[in-house]
Amino acid sequence: MKLRHDVFCVEQGVPEREELDGRDDEGIHLVAVENGHLLGTCRLLLVGKTAQFSRLAVRAPDRRRGIATALLEAAEAETRWAGGRRLVLHAQTYARALYEKAGYRPRGSVFREAGIEHIAMEKELH
Ligand SMILES: CC(C)(COP(=O)(O)OP(=O)(O)OC[C@H]1O[C@@H](n2cnc3c(N)ncnc32)[C@H](O)[C@@H]1OP(=O)(O)O)[C@@H](O)C(=O)NCCC(=O)NCCS
Repeated sequence: MKLRHDVFCVEQGVPEREELDGRDDEGIHLVAVENGHLLGTCRLLLVGKTAQFSRLAVRAPDRRRGIATALLEAAEAETRWAGGRRLVLHAQTYARALYEKAGYRPRGSVFREAGIEHIAMEKELH
């Protein structure tokens, strides 16, 4: 929660009330840890066969080391294990390549969420 606060609220200016949407208790939280330090986090919410992926944040000094990519892979494995068939997410447009490289495809047009440009993306699991 501290990492999410630092990244989304402090760094990106997302209001706390939007970052904390009341759904954390229902979610599966995946974290990246190295030498006892938390480097990254994300959240999965399973709704039927669809997993909603969100709250992906990596500590600023540890970016571009493949940590988000590894969290996406872990989220996919977790979704399969839970019987999910599809992942959906709202990508910040600047980070779209991250998801494209992981096999996500855009759906629909660009919209604003929490004051930031996003695009919906999805990946079917076969
Ligand atoms: C977006 C974020 C999660 C990426 O984490 P990361 O661990 O650095 O990502 P990876 O190292 O796995 O990056 C994989 C690929 O994604 C793309 N990518 C990652 N960060 C990017 C950036 N800032 N700008 C453009 N492309 C980016 C690149 O193609 C990258 O491959 P490369 O490093 O070989 O060029 C991280 O920058 C972050 O926490 N940002 C602030 C919060 C945020 O925006 N969350 C995502 C909401 S959709």
